[in-house]
Amino acid sequence: MYNPYLPKFAKILKIQDETPDTKLFTFQFVDKANQNNLNFTHGQFLMLGLFDYGEAPFDICSSSVKTNTFDLTVRKVGILTNQLHLLKVGDLVTIRGPFGNGLPLLQFKDKDLLLIGGGCGFVTMRSFVLDYLAGKLNLGKLNVFYGCLNEENLYFKKEYSQWRKKVELDIALDKPSKSWKGKKGVVTALFNDRQDFSNTVALIVGPPIMYKFVIQELQARGMADSDIYVSLERRMYCGVGVCQHCAIGSYYVCKDGPVFSWEQLKDIKGAV
Ligand SMILES: Cc1cc2nc3c(=O)[nH]c(=O)nc-3n(C[C@H](O)[C@H](O)[C@H](O)COP(=O)(O)OP(=O)(O)OC[C@H]3O[C@@H](n4cnc5c(N)ncnc54)[C@H](O)[C@@H]3O)c2cc1C
Ligand code: FES
Repeated sequence: MYNPYLPKFAKILKIQDETPDTKLFTFQFVDKANQNNLNFTHGQFLMLGLFDYGEAPFDICSSSVKTNTFDLTVRKVGILTNQLHLLKVGDLVTIRGPFGNGLPLLQFKDKDLLLIGGGCGFVTMRSFVLDYLAGKLNLGKLNVFYGCLNEENLYFKKEYSQWRKKVELDIALDKPSKSWKGKKGVVTALFNDRQDFSNTVALIVGPPIMYKFVIQELQARGMADSDIYVSLERRMYCGVGVCQHCAIGSYYVCKDGPVFSWEQLKDIKGAV
């Protein structure tokens, strides 16, 4: 019987430095059956744990199709993530999940998708892009807006040339070097070049400060609240809607989210 509290062991197969504080980890479940049974949808998360250091949620950022391994990109910010960054290839972690709802992509058949990521939230976008490149998403165009501090902090840089074969990737840097030829400013600067968002659904993932301003830009271009989705970050413990740590209004972020439409959230005080 499936027990959502029961952690499974996974081994680190590969570690790649993304930025000075962020690493991309590739894992494989020790038990092959667990690996074969890993089915997830874009925007869902796993609870990664280390004995003595606790557990925390991380978005799955690998393709949902290629499931012989899975990737998590982790920024070191505290107790668990600092310890994870010290681990080596071959070390074990525990995994629970996948949990949460993800973006309801099946509802958006043939619509265009605009992903708007800021900071660590950009991690979420990678699984969408990889599956879109593989022709596995029934979408129209995929456009990605990415707001980041500077070149040094950009995630997945080595993959951009591959992504750009099919995906429109627009980047704005807040404090770029002198040699940066792209857009300068925060992520909303990217909206100046785009007015038409008809037949488009948007997903926003990033620091809370970003949400309000991005939502305003989308609304100003006529996007309905029901077509604007956000992924929320809250402290989580159980991950399955029991402990109440992640409650917002009548929702649990871990179970009813982390992806919500703005229609669902707009009247909930403190949601973003
Ligand atoms: C659904 C979801 C998906 C996530 N996906 C990713 C991901 O793909 N990659 C990634 O690097 N991180 C992700 N996070 C954030 C990650 O879970 C936290 O950074 C992690 O809990 C930090 O654990 P820690 O023990 O290292 O930090 P702690 O020692 O617990 O905390 C360190 C500091 O960070 C603050 N902090 C920690 N977590 C949060 C939080 N969730 N919200 C606000 N402040 C916080 C604490 O207040 C403290 O100041 C996600 C969070 C959620 C809810
Ligand atoms: S983390 Fe326990 S209810 Fe969401």
